[in-house]
Amino acid sequence: MAPRTILITGASGEIGHGLIHRLAEQGRDRILALDLHAAEDALRARCYRFLTGDIADTALLENLAAAYDLDVIYHLAALLSTKSERQPRLAHRVNVDGTLNLLELGVGQARQQQREIKFLYPSSIAVYGLPDLQTKRRAAKVKEDEWCEPRTMYGINKLYCERLGRYYARYYRQLDAQETAGHLDFRGLRFPGLISAFTVPTGGTSDYAPEMLHAAAAGTPYACFVRARTADARDVQHRQFQSVGQRLLRAHSARIPRVARDLRTGREATEHRGQLAARCGRRRRPRRLGVAARL
Ligand SMILES: NC(=O)c1ccc[n+]([C@@H]2O[C@H](COP(=O)([O-])OP(=O)(O)OC[C@H]3O[C@@H](n4cnc5c(N)ncnc54)[C@H](O)[C@@H]3O)[C@@H](O)[C@H]2O)c1
Repeated sequence: MAPRTILITGASGEIGHGLIHRLAEQGRDRILALDLHAAEDALRARCYRFLTGDIADTALLENLAAAYDLDVIYHLAALLSTKSERQPRLAHRVNVDGTLNLLELGVGQARQQQREIKFLYPSSIAVYGLPDLQTKRRAAKVKEDEWCEPRTMYGINKLYCERLGRYYARYYRQLDAQETAGHLDFRGLRFPGLISAFTVPTGGTSDYAPEMLHAAAAGTPYACFVRARTADARDVQHRQFQSVGQRLLRAHSARIPRVARDLRTGREATEHRGQLAARCGRRRRPRRLGVAARL
């Protein structure tokens, strides 16, 4: 089978690391990686090419499109939640305008090659928003299309980009007189807060969870930045045992894509983190985190 050419943006980040290692293990793809920040040697060695650049740079993306026939795009580059709340205009530029640039690249490739190009987009449970705790408790488990009323810049960006993705997949150039061959197969997954054993987080709302674990593994004290009762109130789920890379790969090959949701109550998540932290604290060996949190 001919190797597929896969573009990964945000390749130096938490998910990028896991995904690149997972794809490289399979050994059948050419990985083109792109990130604002250069990668360490071990990650770079796993890629066909590692480009340091900005997804806002349309000239760079045009050069990529001219040089390669892409099969799949994993668009991971983003400004995460806390950073987006602090710098909303920058968040819009990176999360929305940047995603639009990648969607344009993807649809352009599909039309040029006259075939289907897959576009994988990690969205977030930040797309949900409920007005208060009572409503949240009453709502219990929410469905994919319920309570999509985000209250953060990041959540708004993510929800809008899911819809942009659907537009590019189903309605792009719908007024054209003639249908063009080749289209974008856009798939989004709504992830909860994720934990990586290999990289430390950079500006997510749920960073306290990985920070706790990394501190426990390193044997250093950690002062958590959220109130003790917050985990209950947030009803946030963390499924550290799932492999994120695997999930993205599953989303890539699923026949009927659905937005993925892993629900676990705040209390369960807290208990899990406690058990993991205790285990890591006992062993004081950071590598053990990999059992819990391999991406
Ligand atoms: N980590 C989580 O808990 C979580 C949960 C849900 C969804 N997601 C989504 O998954 C994706 C990857 O998240 P992550 O945890 O790996 O984040 P991360 O912050 O570790 O990585 C993001 C990467 O994007 C790069 N980047 C930022 N702006 C860029 C730009 N303009 N051009 C090129 N690269 C740029 C950064 O340098 C960074 O390496 C993001 O879209 C994020 O919103 C993450």
